[in-house]
Amino acid sequence: MGLFGDLDDTIYQDKDVLKEDYQPDEILEREAEIEEYKHALSDAVFGRTPDNVFLFGKAGVGKTAVTNYVLTELQAEVDQRDTADDVHISRVNCNNESVYSIVRTLINNLIPPSGDRFPAKGPSKADAFERLYREMERVGGTHFFVFDEIDHLSDPDSLLYEFPRARANGYLEDARVGIIGISNNYTFRNTLSSKVKSTLMEQEISFSTYDATELSTILEHRAERAFVDGACDPSAIQACAAFAAKDDGSARQAIDLLLGAGDNAEKNGDDLVTADHVEAIHESVSRGQLKDKIADQTMHCQLVLEALALHQRDTGDTARTKQVMNRYQSVARDHNVDPLTTLESIRGHLDDLNMLGFLLRTEENRGQGGGRSYRWEVDMDIETVIDVRESIDSTPT
Ligand SMILES: Nc1ncnc2c1ncn2[C@@H]1O[C@H](COP(=O)(O)OP(=O)(O)OP(=O)(O)O)[C@@H](O)[C@H]1O
Ligand SMILES: [Mg+2]
Repeated sequence: MGLFGDLDDTIYQDKDVLKEDYQPDEILEREAEIEEYKHALSDAVFGRTPDNVFLFGKAGVGKTAVTNYVLTELQAEVDQRDTADDVHISRVNCNNESVYSIVRTLINNLIPPSGDRFPAKGPSKADAFERLYREMERVGGTHFFVFDEIDHLSDPDSLLYEFPRARANGYLEDARVGIIGISNNYTFRNTLSSKVKSTLMEQEISFSTYDATELSTILEHRAERAFVDGACDPSAIQACAAFAAKDDGSARQAIDLLLGAGDNAEKNGDDLVTADHVEAIHESVSRGQLKDKIADQTMHCQLVLEALALHQRDTGDTARTKQVMNRYQSVARDHNVDPLTTLESIRGHLDDLNMLGFLLRTEENRGQGGGRSYRWEVDMDIETVIDVRESIDSTPT
């Protein structure tokens, strides 16, 4: 038998269903948001300008999935109504893009395959907008532009200001435009000019994080397609839903966990995926994330964190800055690193770690004339931090 000869696809029926790029044919637990969305876009069915829509919500809560679903449904409806105007949809991810490159993408999506692409360099931004309007007019109908991760743009006003005025300013006569902006940054709206805000945020739909029950429903539906009958135990689904709900309420994380658990079961030759498989990989997934996060910090920052964790382990108590400093100096020497010598530098690193979410800081009032001082506490499992620091240290760099 060859190397791969012993492999048996025992648990998966369609593993792709658990992959990131899978587009679900059914969206669950988002009825209210879908209804709002439908209402905002419905004018497009009758050849009227639709509302512009902005979606907000944390990572993995279904903004992209719901948008794809709603627009696909709209397209299908328009296609089958003889009287309806055409609908054209362009999706752009704004991450690492300039306004010019985004407009260029929109133009190129409209130019027929035989036509010349709009150049990457040369024309001005105004030239690009003018060309875009020309192409939109040539094609006609209603154009939906979906701008995902729109908060990553350095100058969103200059992209968004234009579109709502294109008809009033005579650039568009036949064609219409609907803007859909997606962001997981709620403060983003405050960075926009008030004119852009009033014209573009006609409909704001906010997506909350999922709770464990909602995640279970989504997972059950996926598991039914992904696994062969009876290969996924309900306990596995409950475990994934519980972990993901406790972390960030993200459906993406929940689905990732289920995929990891399935692979874990397969690797062990088990033909039933259970909560044990989820637990086994959840640990390593979150450990891996923590290790990356700690390893990203500077050497002294890591040593300060390790010192505080060791102090807490040995004394069972939080630490003053001075106590962290003492422990840090011995830890640094153990690692053959020249320690920093001022209290200010240690406090600076503690402040940084606090801001990054590694630590908690409480203020302590030390009585009359004693002034204020701080106590520090690691805001993570200290044993894990100590283990992770050890493993980083023994990894050759
Ligand atoms: N209500 C839902 N029903 C079915 N699947 C869902 C639902 N919500 C999310 N998903 C699935 O979870 C994953 C993450 O969802 P999605 O990509 O839409 O999140 P997002 O809000 O766009 O996140 P990000 O801000 O990171 O782009 C996808 O695989 C998606 O298909
Ligand atoms: Mg998305």
